[in-house]
Amino acid sequence: MTSSTSTSSLWRAWTPITQQAGSLRIVEARGNRVRDAEDNWYLDGVSGVLNASCGHGHPRLIEAANQQLQKLVHYDPMVSSHDPAETLASRLAAILPGELNETCLVNSGSEATEAALRIALQYWHNIGEGRNRVITFEAGYHGTTHLAQQLSGLPFTVSEWSAPFPIDRVALPASPRALRTEEGADTLIALFAQAIEAGPPAAAVMVEPLLGLGGCVVLPNGFLARLRQLCDQHGTLLILDEVFCGFGRTGRMFGFEHEGITPDIVTMSKGISGGYLPLAAVTVTSPIKATFTREPIARGLRYGHTTGGHAVASAVGNAVLDVMADEKLVENSATQGALLLDELRKLESSPLVTDVRGLGLVIAIEADSPESAAAIGNAAVRSGVMVRHERGVIRIAPPLTITADETTEMIQKISDAVDVAATAHA
Ligand SMILES: Cc1ncc(COP(=O)(O)O)c(C=O)c1O
Repeated sequence: MTSSTSTSSLWRAWTPITQQAGSLRIVEARGNRVRDAEDNWYLDGVSGVLNASCGHGHPRLIEAANQQLQKLVHYDPMVSSHDPAETLASRLAAILPGELNETCLVNSGSEATEAALRIALQYWHNIGEGRNRVITFEAGYHGTTHLAQQLSGLPFTVSEWSAPFPIDRVALPASPRALRTEEGADTLIALFAQAIEAGPPAAAVMVEPLLGLGGCVVLPNGFLARLRQLCDQHGTLLILDEVFCGFGRTGRMFGFEHEGITPDIVTMSKGISGGYLPLAAVTVTSPIKATFTREPIARGLRYGHTTGGHAVASAVGNAVLDVMADEKLVENSATQGALLLDELRKLESSPLVTDVRGLGLVIAIEADSPESAAAIGNAAVRSGVMVRHERGVIRIAPPLTITADETTEMIQKISDAVDVAATAHA
């Protein structure tokens, strides 16, 4: 089912240089399905790049982009503002809790991380404390701009360059399965406390509410709430990266809502525009922004991009919020996600499967080896469900528009793929 591109001038920089040829070529996507160049249709089990939360080809999102294209494509964000960006920023303030009212719009999750770190470190400078140490998960992922890449300790983010500020990374003390217990939460919070106390006062703790690219690791109940308390005790800023989890992915609008907490800074991308156009945001509390009034920083954060808060992308962002509300996509994520997880958990009886975990429409099937994960993932794709496997984990994150029938089809095809792989392995 793969179509080869024998010669290509396109360098897909994430893909190993030796594996660029022979890739799948996707030519069309509609609803919750995608079609390759050989006319095979697949149920989309990964939402494009984990961002097509409203499905593909949604008429209301296309219409919002079309209308904005005809009215105003974009204008210089340094000297002017426009309605789509103003509206989006105020709508984000309305759906985010507490004093999270101040939003910078950027183009990608990595840029949102970059902006969040600059704001956090500059904030400490603004108030006369030179804090610059950042604490994070070793298995976290926050992007690939220089600052963002430094945070992660995942093997595929290893960089040749050193970090411009001290970073302490907390390694997971147990398997994802063992972590989802009360003892797991205790151990994990003790490690973060240790990291905070082990050096000079920490500027920020930056984590994802669920470690997405680090293996879809569901954090133990109560962990984030306790992390919030820990940060408060030390006056450390809590930055939550909602790039993967935000906009309904985990069955709540934001991942942190499961724990009823309010971060100081939140980053968003992916679902914010349903993947229709590049768009990301970093929102900070009003007291943080209020410190940016002194010279020389009062002249501006000195961070931003030509296309930041692009009018067409922002118009789509506003339409995404309408579609999510009208089609009850957060609720659907919770309902279909629970169904998927309940049924796929039965695969834990397979000799190849060591753990099935998830939250909302993020499900991970952990296999006993990377080879088993590849066998299951490839069998699923051959049967017509697009899934991704990495380092022993098969990731399933369909659009939030998935129907009950499509959920049933996905469960059946993935279960069959596990059987096929187990039979071949036996
Ligand atoms: C949690 C998280 N943060 C940041 C990023 C980086 O986003 P982008 O690829 O848009 O730069 C990603 C991308 O997958 C992510 O999952």
